[in-house]
Amino acid sequence: MAQYIDLHCHILPALDDGAPDLATGMEMARALQNLGFAEICATPHQRNGLFIPDEAAIDRAFDEMRSEIEKSQAGVRLRLGAENYWDEIFIERVRNHGIPCYDGRRAFLFEVSPVLPPPNLSETLFEIRLGGHLPVMAHPERCLPVQREIGFAEALGRQAALVVDLEALGGGRNRAVTRAARRLAEEGLAHAASSDLHAPETAPDVAAGIAWIGKRLGPAGVARLLAENPRRILGGELP
Ligand SMILES: [Fe+2]
Repeated sequence: MAQYIDLHCHILPALDDGAPDLATGMEMARALQNLGFAEICATPHQRNGLFIPDEAAIDRAFDEMRSEIEKSQAGVRLRLGAENYWDEIFIERVRNHGIPCYDGRRAFLFEVSPVLPPPNLSETLFEIRLGGHLPVMAHPERCLPVQREIGFAEALGRQAALVVDLEALGGGRNRAVTRAARRLAEEGLAHAASSDLHAPETAPDVAAGIAWIGKRLGPAGVARLLAENPRRILGGELP
C-alpha cells in the first residue's frame, strides 16, 4: 500500500472554502486514504479579508478531526499547516517570526497572486530561508510568469519547494495551468505534488494527477513527488 504525504488540502471543517462540516472533511480524508495517502497535512487558508480563522478555532477543528480519524481511519495521520497568502498579514508574520508552519516547525506553505506575484519574490524567499524557514510554494503552475517563462520557476525553486496541484497534472484545470504543471514535473522543477482538495467531489481529479505522474515519470517519480520529497520538506529540507 502506498504511503503518500499530502502537503496541501482543505479538509478541516468550517474554516475556509474547503470542508463545510466534519462529515464532509471525513469523506475527504477517506478519499485521500483510498488514493494512498497515509499522512494528510490540513492547510486552511490564511488570507486577509477572506479567511483569517483564529488559532483557537483552528486548534478545535484540528483536534476534533484528528480524534475522529484516530477512531475510524487506522493508518492515517493528520498534521496541521496553513496556506499563507502573501499579503500584509503574512509579511507582518515574517517580521515577527509568527508564520504558521507545518507542525509548528520550519517549513510553511504559501501562495501568491497568480497575476501579480510579489516583485521581489526570490529575494524575500532567500531572506526567509536565512531566518531558518523553508518556504513551500503552492501551485506555482498558476503563476502567469511561470506559464510564460519556465526559467522563472527554476529561480524560485532554488529558494522554495515547488508543490504542484495533482488536479492540474491530471488535466482538471485550465489548459495553460495544466501545461505549466506538467512541464514543471517533466523538467524536474516540481519538488512535490499535493491534492489541494477542497471537496470530496474532486478526488477523481487528484487520482488523475497521480495516474499522470505514474504514466510519465514511472513509479520512481510517484514515490519522489508524493512520498520522499514531501517527507524531506516536512523535515525542513529543500529536496
Ligand atoms: Fe489550497
